[in-house]
Amino acid sequence: MSDKILQRMEFLRDELARHDRLYYVEARPEIGDADYDRLYRELEELERKHPEFDDPNSPTKRVGGEPLEGFSQVNHDPPMMSLDKSHSKTELLDFDLALKRLLPEVVPSYVVEPKVDGVAFSILYRNGRLVRAATRGSGEIGDDITANIRTIRSIPLTIPCEAAVVELRGEVFMTRQGFFDLVTRQEAEGSEPFMNPRNAAAGSLKQLDPRVTATRPLDAVLYATGVLEGISFATHAELVDVLGKWGVKTLEWRRFCADMPEVFKAIDELETLRHDFPFEIDGAVIKLADRKHYEALGATSRSPRWARAYKYAPERAETVVEAVTVQVGRTGVLTPVAELRPVLLAGSTIARATLHNADEIARKDIRIGDTVWLVKAGDVIPAVESVIVEKRRGTEVVFEMPQRCPACGGAVSRVTGEVALRCTNPGCPAQLVARLEHFASRNALDIERVGGVVAEALVKSGLVATPYDIFRLQGDALARLDLGEEGKQRLFGAKNGARLLKAAQRARTLPLHRWLFALGVPQIGATVAESVAMCHERFSELPTSQVLRDTVGLYDAMVEAQQSNPRGSANRKLDEAERNELQRRYDTACARIENLGEALVASRAATKVDGESRPARYSTLIKEEAVRALVAYFESEAGRETVRALEALGIDPVSQGLLSGGAGGPLEGMVVVITGTLAAPRHEIANRIKAAGGKVADAVTKATTFVVVGSDPGTAKTERAEKLGVPLITEEELELRLAAEPAVTEEAMVAVQGELF
Ligand code: IVH
Repeated sequence: MSDKILQRMEFLRDELARHDRLYYVEARPEIGDADYDRLYRELEELERKHPEFDDPNSPTKRVGGEPLEGFSQVNHDPPMMSLDKSHSKTELLDFDLALKRLLPEVVPSYVVEPKVDGVAFSILYRNGRLVRAATRGSGEIGDDITANIRTIRSIPLTIPCEAAVVELRGEVFMTRQGFFDLVTRQEAEGSEPFMNPRNAAAGSLKQLDPRVTATRPLDAVLYATGVLEGISFATHAELVDVLGKWGVKTLEWRRFCADMPEVFKAIDELETLRHDFPFEIDGAVIKLADRKHYEALGATSRSPRWARAYKYAPERAETVVEAVTVQVGRTGVLTPVAELRPVLLAGSTIARATLHNADEIARKDIRIGDTVWLVKAGDVIPAVESVIVEKRRGTEVVFEMPQRCPACGGAVSRVTGEVALRCTNPGCPAQLVARLEHFASRNALDIERVGGVVAEALVKSGLVATPYDIFRLQGDALARLDLGEEGKQRLFGAKNGARLLKAAQRARTLPLHRWLFALGVPQIGATVAESVAMCHERFSELPTSQVLRDTVGLYDAMVEAQQSNPRGSANRKLDEAERNELQRRYDTACARIENLGEALVASRAATKVDGESRPARYSTLIKEEAVRALVAYFESEAGRETVRALEALGIDPVSQGLLSGGAGGPLEGMVVVITGTLAAPRHEIANRIKAAGGKVADAVTKATTFVVVGSDPGTAKTERAEKLGVPLITEEELELRLAAEPAVTEEAMVAVQGELF
């Protein structure tokens, strides 16, 4: 009996590993998600019932348990090298020449491969089992990232090779699509998005919690070897071949080149294909085809002699600056923008590029009419790199920042310590439009339909003079709002108007952090807003908040302690009286740091970092510049106006974390499971469920009250719910239960219950 069970478990493990390989490595799946899930669940169930047949390399064990405290270190022997780079073909000819000199008997032939722009890593299999993975680190010592690498499903946990040691080296990367999906998710969650795919891959590998890494769309290819014991490969082609047979992902695009002309052809061909790859490529790698010379050739201090990297120039395009316009942002900052003759650059048409500020324009000496090089900075944002001075005809015009705001004609001033010019008119319509757009944007109050044109029309028509006026809008006035330009009428319409009002109604009860972000206070991004909301119960507390004042006080005391430290270098040459006075000031500052620090720790707005040092060190929940900006805001006219406006509207946003724990809430006592993608970020929905008294669970059981089903739901959960008779509801139905005020809730509940139960 138990033999049979073990056999079945082994079959399932092999089968799942095979399907992982077909799906993630070879991109030719044989079964659909539902069938895969069924096999997976059967194995999970058997593993739960039979822990005696545990296998750490089971496909169910990719994502590890608890987060690590820190990474342990791995010694690389031989070291993980990097490659010498050539920027021109002549330099490649020198490489070929050097090899011919070092190997006089050999006519070298080469392999050209893409140079993947990712993060180098090493992976070690002992007797066919993955035992360790590491980053390059210094080359000699790297971080042990085994738990994170195991979450990458294209990397096999076992290989059909009995050799004692097979160490492979390769690159972890994120596809462009994976990166864009991740950034969209990060933006929706209000977290700082990654800059580019390489960054995203590196950041994901540095996670201490492999469960987080598992949610990142990582992939990997292997292209070289480290230590090998009990196996060898004669050529690079053989290595790639054997890896492929083992189910290890390798670079598909590869050219064998008998001589240098063929190498040049291959790197040119690859350059034209560069943007068709699903991942970023920043060059080509040229390797000696025959591995038997590798050892004899050896390495310089940092790179092996048998390979070379060839870097492609970043993509550039030539175009003309036809005009420079000036945009007014929500804080009044004037930003010059180059209006360009449209050009195609790395796959998209570019017609505008920010010039940042006047200093940047002066530094690059960009003039209107200039022919310029446009580059994609970090392969994402287009920027004017430089002027092609030879193409000047003398008719180009030097651009001057305007003395008055281009939108309202108001005065502009340069803020001390900043290069930026600002429009100082608080009633400037361009600022108001920008503020309104921010106020209504997705991560702020998510008021549908208040995009560019509508925001402009709302301000121009006078319907909106501050963002809060959105809450005073009337349906009929909105319906008649004219979005047309130059005399052509285009009405907003009753339907759009109703939509907008509904979204505004919903916005009234959004949690504190969303409101804080929406206000557009300088320095208060989505993440800081969350921190602020975590240590306050409601908006009306903020103007007189003790936490904010204590945090500012703490930072002031830190400055004072630093200045008055008798052992500070500036204070060494003092006489005794001065020294005593300093000591007194220093002691007072240290005591103040301790007092404020402990008070903040008690309200969970700080943690003690180093209690041994004097003064003790604290890390605050809200960072220094942000807390200063917030305090300044509530003292400013704009801040007071906001407080007055919200009071008048009867809006006092409540913090999600502290929302009463949900007692008496509409979901009290309910257990909710979520599956699929919801319109709002999942953690936010989960928090709102908790705030309404509900519990969020991962698995569907008999205790589950209902399952909220988003788009692309996991079949595992819905099928189980159907089997157990647990009702499925839509996100809209959930909103109905959550959003409404108590009186409305009852109605809504009746409606929902009528439909569901
Ligand atoms: S072979 C010395 N092949 O580029 C180790 N490297 O600066 C042998 N890279 O360190 C490297 N694609 O991280 C090789 N097809 C490829 C590669 C590649 C990307 C990385 C690797 C290397 C760096 C060179």
